[in-house]
Amino acid sequence: MKSFFIQTFGCQMNVHDSQKIKEQLQAEKYTETEDITKADIIIANTCSVRHNPENKVYSFVGRTRRLKEKKKVLLGIAGCVAQQEGNRILKKYPSVDFVFGTDQLFSLPTILQKAEEGIRASYTDWLTTEHNIKEQNFIPTLEKTPVQEVTPGSDPKAMIAIAKGCNNFCSYCIVPYTRGQLISRPLHTIIEEATTLVAQGVKEILLVGQNVNAYKTREHSFYDVLKAVSDIKGLARVRFTSPHPNFWNNELTDLMTDRANIATLLHFPLQSGSDSILKAMFRHHTAAQYKAKVDYLQEKIPNLFLTTDIIVGFPGETLDDFQATLDMIEKVRFWQIYAFKYSPRPGTKSEAMEDSIPLKEKQRRLAALLALQSKIQDEKLDSLVGTKQEILFDSVHPQEKNVIVGTTDHGVRVNVQAPEAYIGEIKNVTISGRKTYSLIGTI
Ligand code: 5AD
Ligand code: SF4
Repeated sequence: MKSFFIQTFGCQMNVHDSQKIKEQLQAEKYTETEDITKADIIIANTCSVRHNPENKVYSFVGRTRRLKEKKKVLLGIAGCVAQQEGNRILKKYPSVDFVFGTDQLFSLPTILQKAEEGIRASYTDWLTTEHNIKEQNFIPTLEKTPVQEVTPGSDPKAMIAIAKGCNNFCSYCIVPYTRGQLISRPLHTIIEEATTLVAQGVKEILLVGQNVNAYKTREHSFYDVLKAVSDIKGLARVRFTSPHPNFWNNELTDLMTDRANIATLLHFPLQSGSDSILKAMFRHHTAAQYKAKVDYLQEKIPNLFLTTDIIVGFPGETLDDFQATLDMIEKVRFWQIYAFKYSPRPGTKSEAMEDSIPLKEKQRRLAALLALQSKIQDEKLDSLVGTKQEILFDSVHPQEKNVIVGTTDHGVRVNVQAPEAYIGEIKNVTISGRKTYSLIGTI
């Protein structure tokens, strides 16, 4: 039996796409291996949103070269770097056998067949365009099901891509170029997939899209999707990521309040707390507008956990601008912040702006932000100690014996001494303590 190994970099969309790569390879009778040295097919699913992830890919290719000297292995590069660099990857790295971009996800069986015949090629054409989806009620690059099988005792969480691409063109962001325009799936196909998953035992569904709440078809909006999915009987939890604050409204907050199965966690990317930087980033909202939406969310959902993305050192960011970001963090009290140093990306609008903040200063701002956040995070985690939480268990602890791991409704990881048979189940757990980023609980 032949086996495959997938390494995933980057965002939830890539995690989703890797799952679809896996399902297609399994349908071709390959089995997954965690041991890269045993694999016959190695695929790196790449990310280009910042410099670092890109470098990781290149070192990954270097590492796999030696494996290829020992036996026949097919090496493929997928995802955003593949979409962007295409043929250049084949030229630069003789050990790479095939490259496929973000719209070619479901062409994998054909691509693989060609690679096995010894044809080295790059596949980066856009398959979903406005033109070819107008004619049909189905989006071939988003929804080819094999849907995930859930067996008792296995991870009961699944992802559904409801839309792909982004039309926002935030000035720093490469995503609209690597993922293409926003294309939303018809609602009925999302419901069908979700219903099948729930019937197969899935308890939690994560709806994914680069800009998930910009979802729009002729008939439906993101509100309709969230409402319809949360209506499915037997579905314990619904999450979604990543929303854009500009497409958020109080009706969505009200829906979250009304539905017990919509998780009390919201990723709400701020990027900056300064109006002039938000403007230069083309975020199309002010800090006050962001805060007003947060105020309503926190008023309606008092136990809500918010997470966010922040970029420090955007071109022209003054100390006052940076302070405005810290002030907003103090006020909102996120449970987690994904903070990044600005890095200019090829072809984006901000690439033309002078990258004016020296690396040292970006590092200093990042460290200051993380120091502040670490205190707030402690406080958020501490607030859960002593409470009762419903935990959905998904795996055994990688190191600790007799410990299984699950998540609270807010998405916080919890370690509990409990039988492995609880994996896939929701149990009431008392939170008895905490670690740096996770909690400890007892049944
Ligand atoms: N530089 C730094 N961070 C970036 N992000 C996106 N593009 C860049 C860039 N050029 C961050 C944003 C986004 C997250 C996924 O990555 O914060 O929300
Ligand atoms: Fe990038 Fe902005 Fe689209 Fe998010 S909304 S993917 S940051 S362009």
